[in-house]
Amino acid sequence: MTVRLAPSILAADHARLADEVARVLAGGADQIHVDVMDGRFVPNLTFGAPVVRALRRVTDAPLDCHLMVEHPETYIGPFADAGATILTIHPEATDHLERHLAEIRRRGMKAGAAINPATPLSAVEEVVAELDLLLVMSVNPGFGGQPFWEPAVAKVARARALLDARGSRALLEVDGGVARETIGRLAAAGADTFVAGNAVFGAADPAAEIRELRRLAEAGAAGRKAG
Ligand code: DX5
Ligand code: ZN
Repeated sequence: MTVRLAPSILAADHARLADEVARVLAGGADQIHVDVMDGRFVPNLTFGAPVVRALRRVTDAPLDCHLMVEHPETYIGPFADAGATILTIHPEATDHLERHLAEIRRRGMKAGAAINPATPLSAVEEVVAELDLLLVMSVNPGFGGQPFWEPAVAKVARARALLDARGSRALLEVDGGVARETIGRLAAAGADTFVAGNAVFGAADPAAEIRELRRLAEAGAAGRKAG
């Protein structure tokens, strides 16, 4: 299993976004997580496709866009045009998840589905074949820096079993409260892609933090193989 670390720019200095992104990429980040919020699906507002377009001008790195918005299908075109690499939408925010995942792929992006803590895995069970990424939320989305929702560890293990049973090669991403204390257990449960906002951007040395998170995740994943 290859561990992927995705720092969330929600926790970065938004006045210096290009520098912050360059710094974590130089420090070993695999992709940049972009938290898009509409003030309706979640009680917070952030940024949209124009920021993705601006980031795309300064980096070739994968832009992992997490849409926490109602009717995310409205934004598939704008994010594709802006240069998003992965577009992840919530089944709770839309009807016709399958159609929208297909449209995301048709527009040349990788298709992701994200589920809130209260949403059962069955919400994505019928569309596993359409997924390039499954995101298990380990906080209720809306804000960075929230306490980790502990049942996410067992949910990740069930998600891994679901993907494996279907022969899916989708990335299994976890988002919210990922830090030194939690990442090893999440990797041991079968996650391979880790969003980290405050853990990375709040660290005195983000590059060192990325190295340490990767080390702990790899150790957790190795334990999983051994077990
Ligand atoms: C939560 C967002 C997360 C957030 C994670 O609504 O989806 O991506 O940035 O922040 P931390 O890692 O600080 O919990
Ligand atoms: Zn996110």
